[in-house]
Amino acid sequence: MTNPAFWNGKRVLVTGHTGFKGSWLSLWLLSMGAEVTGLALDPPTEPSLFALAGLERRMDSRIGDIRDPAAVDAAVRAAEPEILIHMAAQPLVRLSYDEPVETVATNVMGTVHVLEAARRCASLRACVVVTTDKCYENREWPWPYRETEPMGGYDPYSASKGCAELVTSAWRRSFFGKPGAFGKPGSAAIASARAGNVIGGGDWALDRLVPDCMRALMAGRTIPVRNPHAIRPWQHVLEPLGGYLLLAEKLWDDPADHADAWNFGPSDSDARPVSWIASHVVERWGDGAAWELIGGDHPHEATYLRVDSSKARMQLGWEPRLGLADCLDWTVEWFRRYHAGENIERVTLDQIERYQGMAGRTSVQMDGRTP
Ligand SMILES: NC(=O)c1ccc[n+]([C@@H]2O[C@H](COP(=O)([O-])OP(=O)(O)OC[C@H]3O[C@@H](n4cnc5c(N)ncnc54)[C@H](O)[C@@H]3O)[C@@H](O)[C@H]2O)c1
Repeated sequence: MTNPAFWNGKRVLVTGHTGFKGSWLSLWLLSMGAEVTGLALDPPTEPSLFALAGLERRMDSRIGDIRDPAAVDAAVRAAEPEILIHMAAQPLVRLSYDEPVETVATNVMGTVHVLEAARRCASLRACVVVTTDKCYENREWPWPYRETEPMGGYDPYSASKGCAELVTSAWRRSFFGKPGAFGKPGSAAIASARAGNVIGGGDWALDRLVPDCMRALMAGRTIPVRNPHAIRPWQHVLEPLGGYLLLAEKLWDDPADHADAWNFGPSDSDARPVSWIASHVVERWGDGAAWELIGGDHPHEATYLRVDSSKARMQLGWEPRLGLADCLDWTVEWFRRYHAGENIERVTLDQIERYQGMAGRTSVQMDGRTP
């Protein structure tokens, strides 16, 4: 469970703060009293949670490209972070087929630039590199993947994240040899975090199921669905973010035992077919909403991938708290309130506060409800 008192007054650098997860994380950190600096390109979507929540005014927001080592270095020097959470990336599988070079440049060399700046930064104590469950070599088998399994990736995005993991591991072993000797360059504890597909309010990315649903519903259109039988392990955006925060706290307190790779996946019962998600969202939205199958050739997408989060449960005390049905309901609620013109910073903070107030969940019901 995240400890708000820990974050009060901490200097935190978030890369990718203008994106979906970065905006939620920045708001959460600010609400706990952290001094937050961000480094990213302009928001990747219009509209964006970053703009709607007024984050530019509330944090030290720096627009820069992580493919440029000087830009990364300048942001790290200015922020003098104690904690760095690296999330900037080209995060879309389908776009990675159209822009493979840019995807690899951002996700692999961008990560190298962040790690290079991090190892020169004497103030840094903890660094979390965010990758994805897609970093694993996907054998399309039914068992969940553990942190020890090989990296891989069929498509450019997945391969780039597998590479980012390898690079993080190599830099940790080669250049961050003194965790705990704080105040010296190279003394930070570095971990990586592998979470699955996240959903939540404020995501307008193209070619993602829930944003596609919300766009269609708000425009009064039928939801277009491809791959209705594909099963994905869904989780609310606050679940992995809570994991990253908890991991950073543990890195701070006990660096030697936590500078490693960590899975933050949803519960098994939250792995559902795309058609189930679309039907649930349609039912919750009401107003005669519907979904339809769209045909055509689609690039290869992995059909099944689950991660085993036992290590995070047992060693960090992290576990998912929102069942899938609740997580979809929170998402529909967020977009309904956005559609009604409510203050988005307030809407988002309401959900962060509600999430923080929830007691740890010990089991998941088959209907996807949080007991
Ligand atoms: N959304 C998901 O379902 C999901 C699942 C697993 C992992 N992730 C990972 O979480 C992280 C955040 O994902 P998201 O969904 O918020 O993505 P997003 O597209 O909403 O945000 C990406 C952020 O990275 C920044 N960025 C992109 N290229 C950059 C560059 N060259 N230089 C500087 N900044 C750049 C963007 O400006 C933006 O702030 C990514 O690392 C992604 O791979 C996301």
